[in-house]
Formats: sequence, structure tokens, C-alpha cells
Amino acid sequence: MNGIRIAPSILAWDLGDLERAVEISVSGGADQIHLDVIDGHFAPNITFGPGTVKALRRRTDLKFDTHLMIDNPGAYVGKFLDAGSDLLTFHAEVLDGPGFDELYRAVKAKGKEAGLAVKPETEVPRWAVDRLDKVSALVVMTVSPGFSGQTMDMSVMPKIQRAKEMISDGGFGTDIEIDGGVEPENVREVVRRGGNVLVAGAGVYGKDDPVSAISVLRNKAEEARRGQ
Ligand code: DX5
Ligand code: ZN
Repeated sequence: MNGIRIAPSILAWDLGDLERAVEISVSGGADQIHLDVIDGHFAPNITFGPGTVKALRRRTDLKFDTHLMIDNPGAYVGKFLDAGSDLLTFHAEVLDGPGFDELYRAVKAKGKEAGLAVKPETEVPRWAVDRLDKVSALVVMTVSPGFSGQTMDMSVMPKIQRAKEMISDGGFGTDIEIDGGVEPENVREVVRRGGNVLVAGAGVYGKDDPVSAISVLRNKAEEARRGQ
């Protein structure tokens, strides 16, 4: 079983002080930093691009988990790889099998990892199931893409469980990354369903003590694991 990983999402921090967001993740012992890239087309917000990722790369060696909520990932995959992303996640809604294969080749050529994300209402498509051996992280969104601070959509739980079964049955090493509204109160449920990478924006950066919030989430997740 893949280990628990905590991935704070800097979108929830002051976007004028992302250096501090990185420092908080580093001091809190986060496993990776989740970077939400939104283009104003795929989802109704515009965040930041490769230039910001590159600037943050100079400030830490922590794994960069870049979540591309963009319509045309093919045009930007190289730029985000060059900027220093370690895991590049693409949305299944804007891809098909051959489209993913092309992106995967670009990612692998740089020795990096590819992820696939699905919105709350999207089932993992057949072409993606057939390629899970190439997918390092299946990102199951539990809020609609666009903004931090939304409430987790609990109707997504059965899909997490189905994803977990699919991955175990196939013997794949794919992480199941849960993205949206993760808070100490729902960690138990998402881990019980099979989530192992927990993205948290408000659940870390919205807390009075964001550094400790990382271990709060980790402890809850480990506890849920032990109870299984
Ligand atoms: C939403 C993003 C999420 C979000 C997480 O479009 O993909 O990563 O920032 O933030 P919280 O944990 O506050 O929902
Ligand atoms: Zn995200």
C-alpha cells in the first residue's frame, strides 16, 4: 500500500507571498507542494504559470506536484517541466488515450512523473484505466476546479473506492490523490476509501498554525490507516 503523503496547496495562501507558503510546507514536513495552475478556460479562475513555478523552484527541493487545470496541456507541458515540476497532472476531460500518450512521453523524457485528474462528476475513462501503469497519481477532485476553500463533495467517495479497487486489482503503484476540501474532519473517510495523497489548501494554509496543521492531517491519516 502506498504511504500517506500530505500536499499543501499554495493557492490557499497569500498569492503575494508564495515564498512563505513554501517555507510553511517545508517546516511542517509536507511531502510535496501542490501547485494549482488554472487558465480561465478549463475552470473559472486564473492562477499562475511556469514563471511562478520556476521562481519557487529556486526556493526548495521539495517535490512539486503541478495540477494543470488547463484546456491545452500539450502547449505547456515542456514549459512546466523546464520550470521544475516533478509530477505533472493533466485532466482526463481534455484528453484521450493518444493525447495522454504524447504528454506521457514528454514527461518521461525528462525523468518526471505523470498524473491524471478527474473532476467530481467525471468517471475515470476506459482509456485511462488501460494506462494506469503509466499514471503515478490519479487525482480525484472532491470540489469543482477553480477555488480553494470549498466544502468536500462526499458523493465522490464511492468513486475513490472504485479507483482503489481498480489500482489494487491491476497491481499498479498509482497513488490516489484527493483534492478539494480536505480537512481533519474528513481525512478518516477519504483514507478509509483508499486515498493516500491528501491535498489541502484551506486545511493547511487557512489554519491559525499552518505548520502544525500539516502534522494534524498526517496523524489523522495514519490513524485511519492503522484502523483499517
Ligand atoms: C481547486 C484546486 C485545489 C484546491 C484545494 O481547483 O485544484 O487544489 O486549491 O484547496 P482546498 O483544500 O482549500 O479545497
Ligand atoms: Zn489542485
